[in-house]
Amino acid sequence: MKLLILTINLFFYLECKCSEILYIQQMPSYSHYILCDKIVKGLLAKGHRVTLISPYSQKTQVENLKEIPLTKLKEESEAIKDKVDPTTFQNTFMSLVFDGGKHVLEDENVQKEIFKPGLHFDLIIIHKFGEELLTGLSYHFKAPYILLSTIGQSFVGSMQVGLPGVPAYLPDFLINISPEMCFFQRLINTVIIDSMLIYGYFFHFRKLDNDMQKFFPGAPSVSDLYFNVSLYLWNSHPSYGFSLPSVPNAIDVGGFHVSDPKPLPKDLKTILDGAKDGAIFFSLGSNVRAFSLPNETKDGILKSFSKLKQVVLWKFEDPELPNKPKNVHISKWYPQQDILAHPNVKLFITHGGLLSLTEAVYNGVPIIGIPVFGDQFYNVEEAVKQGYAYKVLYNEMNEKNFDKAIGEMLNNKKYYENMKEKSRVFHDRPVKPLDSTIYWIEYVIRHRGAPHLRSITANLSWIQLQLLDVYATLLVLLFIAFKCIQIVIRKIVNKICNCKSSKKEKTIKKTQ
Ligand SMILES: *[C@@H]1O[C@H](CO)[C@@H](O)[C@H](O)[C@H]1NC(C)=O
Ligand SMILES: *[C@@H]1O[C@H](CO)[C@@H](O)[C@H](O)[C@H]1NC(C)=O
Repeated sequence: MKLLILTINLFFYLECKCSEILYIQQMPSYSHYILCDKIVKGLLAKGHRVTLISPYSQKTQVENLKEIPLTKLKEESEAIKDKVDPTTFQNTFMSLVFDGGKHVLEDENVQKEIFKPGLHFDLIIIHKFGEELLTGLSYHFKAPYILLSTIGQSFVGSMQVGLPGVPAYLPDFLINISPEMCFFQRLINTVIIDSMLIYGYFFHFRKLDNDMQKFFPGAPSVSDLYFNVSLYLWNSHPSYGFSLPSVPNAIDVGGFHVSDPKPLPKDLKTILDGAKDGAIFFSLGSNVRAFSLPNETKDGILKSFSKLKQVVLWKFEDPELPNKPKNVHISKWYPQQDILAHPNVKLFITHGGLLSLTEAVYNGVPIIGIPVFGDQFYNVEEAVKQGYAYKVLYNEMNEKNFDKAIGEMLNNKKYYENMKEKSRVFHDRPVKPLDSTIYWIEYVIRHRGAPHLRSITANLSWIQLQLLDVYATLLVLLFIAFKCIQIVIRKIVNKICNCKSSKKEKTIKKTQ
């Protein structure tokens, strides 16, 4: 008997401790995988089992991790990155992204591994962007789902959790304006956001409903599933972004992907330790290949670098870089976080991707931002406004502009001091961001979707949330009241006039 109770207890203990989690990282962008990898490793460390659908995979097999690679999606996106210049890249890439959910569900490996009978998951984690159809998995597995937004708050995400008045403070990240908007910007933003919402409700979701039924027969409508998110993880933090309104089931976890620095490889350590006048780290991220820059741009940049006392590390994918001065080192890969953590690194020249920006703030290294696409324009604009960054346009990378930007950053202490202050605020939190992320994910599992966290505003329709029904009623009432007053006034005026005219008539009669 005792043994039976013990076994039952052990069974429950094990069942409570270890959950089956399905994680979908559908975006063919390595920076998204960096975020996903960190969370997956955190969950594995807590004893959970994870099934991961992603274009990328681990180098070696990891215990309790089952990987389902999106091979086709990865090949398609790599082909785009290799061929096309950044501007056209954005458009082609975005079409791949917005249909992300469909690419995932149609994938051969996914069809084979995920739709086989008898599979069970306690929780599903999905990345934001093209996730509409993927929410069908939450219906399929009868499991709650969590969304991770790699860019922090977006207006769509805010609507999903029921935040009211979003166009007043949250510009669409692609329009590249600051959340502190003037009247005209709020007007434009409202028109853009509301038209996108109307388009979403009446066309996009309806179109997707057919696909939803194709992949998940009997599933609720896309909008029912879409607005049923259990928890939203926002990759942002007020220390380097804005303090924005929130709800209990949306958590700011910005910075969770940054690890404590690891020792640098020996050659790098020698270079950086020896950089007595400081070092500059230059990387345009994983989506832009530096070797595809025009020759004259590369030459201009190198000329500017050659005038510096500082050592420059440039993430450059080709082994050959003609005319490379002595103080410039290149490599196709650098341990970015560990380099930024080195005390001699004084400046980071970056495309302004959110992860790079976060790592710069974490380590207190001021930046020169060269935005290339997507949210990078917005990120760099904000960083400039907050006084720890300087902007250079991608099409204007040349010797003169680099001289100016680097000179300003190295000679004006303001940028460095502002960045150090940001960094101090960034680190001052009750719980480390990764611990907080894992805690809230487990919380949703423990409380089966944690419906109590959902804001009651999430159940209101868009019209109710914006109080449009109320204002419409008030307008009608106001109109009726106005009409009534108008009628009364007209009556009174008429009466007075009638009296006057009858008096007049009398006087006229008398004088006659
Ligand atoms: C750029 O420079 C490389 C190496 O010097 C050369 O092979 C290549 O043809 C040049 N490209 C253009 C467009 O001039
Ligand atoms: C919404 O999620 C909860 C779990 O948090 C689940 O019980 C419910 O069935 C879901 N509703 C829809 C329409 O999927």
